[in-house]
Amino acid sequence: MNNKWNKIIYKVGSSFYDRFFNTGVFLKTRKKIFQEVPFQSKQKILFVGIGTGADLEYIDYMNYDITAIDYSPDMLAIAKSKFERSAIQFLEMDAQKMTFEDESFDYIVASLILSVVPDEHKCFEEMIRVLKQDGKILIFDKFAAKHQRITVTKKLLRPIISLLGTDIGRSFEDMFSQQKQRLKIIKDDPVMLKGMYRYIEVMKVK
Ligand SMILES: C[S@@+](CC[C@H](N)C(=O)[O-])C[C@H]1O[C@@H](n2cnc3c(N)ncnc32)[C@H](O)[C@@H]1O
Repeated sequence: MNNKWNKIIYKVGSSFYDRFFNTGVFLKTRKKIFQEVPFQSKQKILFVGIGTGADLEYIDYMNYDITAIDYSPDMLAIAKSKFERSAIQFLEMDAQKMTFEDESFDYIVASLILSVVPDEHKCFEEMIRVLKQDGKILIFDKFAAKHQRITVTKKLLRPIISLLGTDIGRSFEDMFSQQKQRLKIIKDDPVMLKGMYRYIEVMKVK
Protein backbone atom coordinates (compact mmCIF):
# COMPACT_ATOMS: atom_id res chain seq x y z
CA MET A 1 0.00 0.00 0.00
CA ASN A 2 1.17 3.54 -0.66
CA ASN A 3 -0.39 6.98 -0.38
CA LYS A 4 -0.92 7.41 -4.12
CA TRP A 5 -2.80 4.14 -4.46
CA ASN A 6 -4.82 4.79 -1.28
CA LYS A 7 -5.88 8.16 -2.68
CA ILE A 8 -7.28 6.43 -5.78
CA ILE A 9 -8.97 3.66 -3.81
CA TYR A 10 -10.62 6.07 -1.36
CA LYS A 11 -11.66 8.36 -4.20
CA VAL A 12 -13.50 5.47 -5.83
CA GLY A 13 -14.81 4.16 -2.50
CA SER A 14 -15.89 7.48 -1.00
CA SER A 15 -19.36 7.43 -2.59
CA PHE A 16 -20.34 4.03 -1.16
CA TYR A 17 -18.08 3.82 1.94
CA ASP A 18 -20.86 4.53 4.45
CA ARG A 19 -23.06 1.80 2.98
CA PHE A 20 -20.51 -0.81 4.11
CA PHE A 21 -18.58 0.68 6.99
CA ASN A 22 -21.24 2.73 8.71
CA THR A 23 -24.12 0.22 8.77
CA GLY A 24 -24.82 -3.19 10.32
CA VAL A 25 -22.16 -4.54 12.61
CA PHE A 26 -19.84 -1.55 12.03
CA LEU A 27 -22.56 0.88 13.03
CA LYS A 28 -23.42 -1.15 16.13
CA THR A 29 -19.77 -1.36 17.18
CA ARG A 30 -19.06 2.33 16.61
CA LYS A 31 -22.13 3.29 18.65
CA LYS A 32 -21.07 1.06 21.51
CA ILE A 33 -17.49 2.37 21.52
CA PHE A 34 -18.50 6.01 21.47
CA GLN A 35 -21.19 5.58 24.12
CA GLU A 36 -18.40 4.77 26.53
CA VAL A 37 -15.62 7.17 25.49
CA PRO A 38 -14.14 9.17 28.33
CA PHE A 39 -13.98 12.60 26.56
CA GLN A 40 -14.56 15.67 28.67
CA SER A 41 -15.99 19.01 27.62
CA LYS A 42 -13.59 21.35 25.71
CA GLN A 43 -10.88 18.72 25.34
CA LYS A 44 -8.75 18.71 22.20
CA ILE A 45 -9.45 15.63 20.12
CA LEU A 46 -7.75 14.56 16.92
CA PHE A 47 -9.44 12.09 14.55
CA VAL A 48 -6.77 10.50 12.35
CA GLY A 49 -8.01 9.30 8.95
CA ILE A 50 -11.51 10.63 9.61
CA GLY A 51 -12.81 9.28 6.29
CA THR A 52 -16.46 10.17 5.78
CA GLY A 53 -16.80 11.23 9.42
CA ALA A 54 -18.62 8.08 10.55
CA ASP A 55 -17.32 8.28 14.15
CA LEU A 56 -18.31 11.92 14.55
CA GLU A 57 -21.97 11.01 14.21
CA TYR A 58 -21.87 9.22 17.57
CA ILE A 59 -20.28 11.87 19.77
CA ASP A 60 -21.45 15.18 21.14
CA TYR A 61 -19.09 16.99 18.75
CA MET A 62 -20.24 20.52 19.66
CA ASN A 63 -18.78 19.99 23.13
CA TYR A 64 -15.16 19.37 22.12
CA ASP A 65 -12.36 21.07 20.22
CA ILE A 66 -12.08 18.68 17.27
CA THR A 67 -9.54 18.43 14.48
CA ALA A 68 -9.95 15.74 11.82
CA ILE A 69 -7.37 14.80 9.20
CA ASP A 70 -7.40 12.59 6.11
CA TYR A 71 -5.17 12.14 3.09
CA SER A 72 -8.09 11.71 0.68
CA PRO A 73 -9.78 14.97 -0.37
CA ASP A 74 -12.81 12.96 -1.51
CA MET A 75 -13.39 11.24 1.85
CA LEU A 76 -12.75 14.54 3.63
CA ALA A 77 -15.27 16.37 1.43
CA ILE A 78 -18.01 13.97 2.51
CA ALA A 79 -17.11 14.40 6.19
CA LYS A 80 -17.08 18.20 5.80
CA SER A 81 -20.47 18.23 4.10
CA LYS A 82 -22.02 16.27 6.99
CA PHE A 83 -20.73 18.67 9.65
CA GLU A 84 -20.89 21.99 7.79
CA ARG A 85 -22.33 23.85 10.74
CA SER A 86 -19.85 22.56 13.29
CA ALA A 87 -16.55 24.09 14.38
CA ILE A 88 -14.67 20.90 13.50
CA GLN A 89 -11.43 21.66 11.68
CA PHE A 90 -10.99 19.32 8.68
CA LEU A 91 -7.49 19.13 7.22
CA GLU A 92 -5.92 17.23 4.36
CA MET A 93 -2.81 15.71 5.92
CA ASP A 94 -0.62 12.60 5.89
CA ALA A 95 -1.04 10.74 9.19
CA GLN A 96 2.56 9.56 8.94
CA LYS A 97 3.89 13.13 8.91
CA MET A 98 1.56 15.42 10.79
CA THR A 99 2.18 19.14 10.96
CA PHE A 100 0.97 19.57 14.56
CA GLU A 101 3.24 20.57 17.44
CA ASP A 102 4.28 17.91 19.95
CA GLU A 103 1.76 17.23 22.73
CA SER A 104 -1.17 19.08 21.11
CA PHE A 105 -4.12 16.77 21.85
CA ASP A 106 -5.86 15.20 24.86
CA TYR A 107 -7.28 12.33 22.80
CA ILE A 108 -6.55 10.74 19.47
CA VAL A 109 -9.15 8.60 17.74
CA ALA A 110 -7.78 6.06 15.30
CA SER A 111 -10.57 4.05 13.68
CA LEU A 112 -9.62 1.78 10.79
CA ILE A 113 -6.47 3.78 10.01
CA LEU A 114 -3.50 1.79 11.35
CA SER A 115 -4.48 -1.05 9.01
CA VAL A 116 -4.62 1.36 6.07
CA VAL A 117 -1.66 3.78 6.16
CA PRO A 118 1.41 2.64 4.24
CA ASP A 119 3.60 2.61 7.38
CA GLU A 120 1.65 1.88 10.56
CA HIS A 121 4.73 2.27 12.80
CA LYS A 122 5.37 5.82 11.57
CA CYS A 123 1.71 6.69 11.95
CA PHE A 124 1.55 5.31 15.50
CA GLU A 125 4.74 7.19 16.42
CA GLU A 126 3.23 10.41 15.08
CA MET A 127 0.06 9.87 17.11
CA ILE A 128 2.16 9.48 20.25
CA ARG A 129 4.22 12.57 19.42
CA VAL A 130 1.19 14.86 19.06
CA LEU A 131 -0.57 13.41 22.13
CA LYS A 132 -0.25 15.16 25.50
CA GLN A 133 1.25 13.38 28.47
CA ASP A 134 -1.52 11.25 30.12
CA GLY A 135 -3.55 11.62 26.91
CA LYS A 136 -5.13 8.58 25.29
CA ILE A 137 -5.26 6.97 21.86
CA LEU A 138 -8.52 5.15 21.12
CA ILE A 139 -8.05 2.50 18.45
CA PHE A 140 -10.78 0.58 16.63
CA ASP A 141 -9.24 -1.64 14.00
CA LYS A 142 -8.52 -5.13 12.75
CA PHE A 143 -5.26 -6.78 13.70
CA ALA A 144 -3.63 -10.16 13.35
CA ALA A 145 -4.47 -12.48 16.26
CA LYS A 146 -2.26 -11.93 19.30
CA HIS A 147 0.91 -14.03 19.47
CA GLN A 148 -0.22 -16.27 16.61
CA ARG A 149 1.17 -16.78 13.17
CA ILE A 150 -1.02 -15.44 10.37
CA THR A 151 -3.07 -18.28 8.81
CA VAL A 152 -2.30 -19.55 5.31
CA THR A 153 -5.66 -18.28 4.03
CA LYS A 154 -4.96 -14.80 5.35
CA LYS A 155 -1.44 -14.94 3.92
CA LEU A 156 -2.90 -15.65 0.49
CA LEU A 157 -5.67 -13.07 0.78
CA ARG A 158 -3.48 -10.33 2.26
CA PRO A 159 -1.96 -8.96 -1.00
CA ILE A 160 -5.33 -9.04 -2.74
CA ILE A 161 -7.09 -7.19 0.10
CA SER A 162 -4.19 -4.71 0.26
CA LEU A 163 -5.13 -3.66 -3.26
CA LEU A 164 -8.46 -2.54 -1.80
CA GLY A 165 -6.65 -0.20 0.58
CA THR A 166 -6.41 -2.18 3.83
CA ASP A 167 -4.16 -4.81 5.43
CA ILE A 168 -5.52 -7.82 7.33
CA GLY A 169 -2.17 -8.97 8.71
CA ARG A 170 -0.84 -6.14 10.86
CA SER A 171 0.09 -6.82 14.44
CA PHE A 172 -0.81 -4.34 17.16
CA GLU A 173 1.66 -6.10 19.43
CA ASP A 174 4.52 -5.31 16.98
CA MET A 175 3.53 -1.66 16.91
CA PHE A 176 3.14 -1.47 20.66
CA SER A 177 6.42 -3.25 21.43
CA GLN A 178 8.36 -0.45 19.71
CA GLN A 179 6.64 2.18 21.87
CA LYS A 180 6.03 0.33 25.13
CA GLN A 181 8.27 2.61 27.25
CA ARG A 182 5.96 5.53 26.46
CA LEU A 183 2.56 3.83 26.66
CA LYS A 184 0.30 1.86 28.95
CA ILE A 185 -2.58 -0.32 27.68
CA ILE A 186 -5.81 0.63 29.45
CA LYS A 187 -8.21 -1.56 27.47
CA ASP A 188 -7.94 -4.21 24.79
CA ASP A 189 -11.30 -5.77 23.93
CA PRO A 190 -12.49 -7.92 21.04
CA VAL A 191 -15.43 -6.03 19.54
CA MET A 192 -16.25 -7.52 16.15
CA LEU A 193 -15.91 -10.58 13.92
CA LYS A 194 -14.64 -12.98 16.57
CA GLY A 195 -12.00 -10.60 17.83
CA MET A 196 -10.48 -9.76 14.46
CA TYR A 197 -11.54 -6.18 15.24
CA ARG A 198 -10.45 -4.81 18.62
CA TYR A 199 -11.03 -1.69 20.65
CA ILE A 200 -7.79 -0.65 22.30
CA GLU A 201 -7.13 2.33 24.59
CA VAL A 202 -3.55 3.32 25.34
CA MET A 203 -2.29 6.11 27.58
CA LYS A 204 0.89 8.12 27.05
CA VAL A 205 2.93 7.82 30.21
CA LYS A 206 6.26 9.37 29.11
C1 LIG B 1 -10.90 2.56 6.22
S1 LIG B 1 -11.01 4.28 6.13
C2 LIG B 1 -11.45 4.71 7.81
C3 LIG B 1 -12.18 5.99 7.89
C4 LIG B 1 -12.78 6.33 9.25
N1 LIG B 1 -11.79 6.49 10.27
C5 LIG B 1 -13.78 5.29 9.65
O1 LIG B 1 -13.65 4.73 10.76
O2 LIG B 1 -14.72 5.03 8.90
C6 LIG B 1 -9.33 4.76 6.07
C7 LIG B 1 -9.12 6.24 5.86
O3 LIG B 1 -7.73 6.53 6.00
C8 LIG B 1 -7.37 7.50 5.05
N2 LIG B 1 -5.92 7.44 4.82
C9 LIG B 1 -5.23 6.53 4.12
N3 LIG B 1 -3.91 6.83 4.14
C10 LIG B 1 -3.78 7.94 4.91
C11 LIG B 1 -2.68 8.75 5.31
N4 LIG B 1 -1.45 8.45 4.95
N5 LIG B 1 -2.92 9.82 6.10
C12 LIG B 1 -4.19 10.14 6.47
N6 LIG B 1 -5.27 9.42 6.10
C13 LIG B 1 -5.07 8.34 5.33
C14 LIG B 1 -8.20 7.13 3.83
O4 LIG B 1 -8.29 8.21 2.94
C15 LIG B 1 -9.52 6.74 4.48
O5 LIG B 1 -10.37 7.85 4.59
